Amino acid sequence: MHTRYLLSVMTAIVVTGCAGGAATPPSATDAGIAAKAEAMLKASFKARGQAGLDRLDQDETQRVCSALANKPPPREIAEKIERANLAMIKWPADGKLLGDWKNGEKIAQEGRGKQYSDDPAGPVGANCYACHQIAPQEVSYGTIGPSLYRFAKVRGYGPEIQKYAYGKVFNSDAYAACTTMPRFGHNGILTEQQMKDVVALLMDPESPVNK
Ligand code: HEC
Repeated sequence: MHTRYLLSVMTAIVVTGCAGGAATPPSATDAGIAAKAEAMLKASFKARGQAGLDRLDQDETQRVCSALANKPPPREIAEKIERANLAMIKWPADGKLLGDWKNGEKIAQEGRGKQYSDDPAGPVGANCYACHQIAPQEVSYGTIGPSLYRFAKVRGYGPEIQKYAYGKVFNSDAYAACTTMPRFGHNGILTEQQMKDVVALLMDPESPVNK
């Protein structure tokens, strides 16, 4: 019985996923299935350490992106998501977007921080290297995201690009709706200073990224 229920929910998710590419609004049945799937997730996960069940709560952006089952959103929906997320970015009050690239490198390397088994008082990192090539000295990196090597050397060192880099780290959905890149500022993963430091890693002319 349990298995049959699970299977029917999974089939329904796949079917919903297939229809997701079109810009059709989800039907009442889809909403019912989504609610069941959410309840199932909440029932199967257990809160442990700092990883509470609130991590399963999705905001509006995540809800829309989940409904699309990882397919790129139609243009007008993407624009709406990007506009809404851009408006939610909190820019540094002092107007400075660049910190210390050396600290930025440590933060980009650090994968610990928010897992249930991590010390909540310990270091919180961004794990940028899990998805990006950044400084050429680090030869172990993931390729889910584009290479950021020579980021400012290629794109320029000006205020526009600095702003883009900071905003991207703060809330990646503001520039690419439904991206897999985490929203480091929006979700309180990194502090403002940590974000400035990783932005410096990309933007500082002295950073190995731009050598
Ligand atoms: C889970 C994977 C993942 C992690 C972790 C991640 N990113 Fe990304 N990032 C992506 C993906 C995928 C893209 C391309 C799609 C997009 O623009 O969101 C991207 C795009 C970017 C871009 C835009 C590149 C361009 O050419 O315009 C920047 C800048 C960036 N990431 C910086 C960072 C930094 C800095 C960190 C760490 C603080 C980081 N990312 C962590 C997946 C990730």
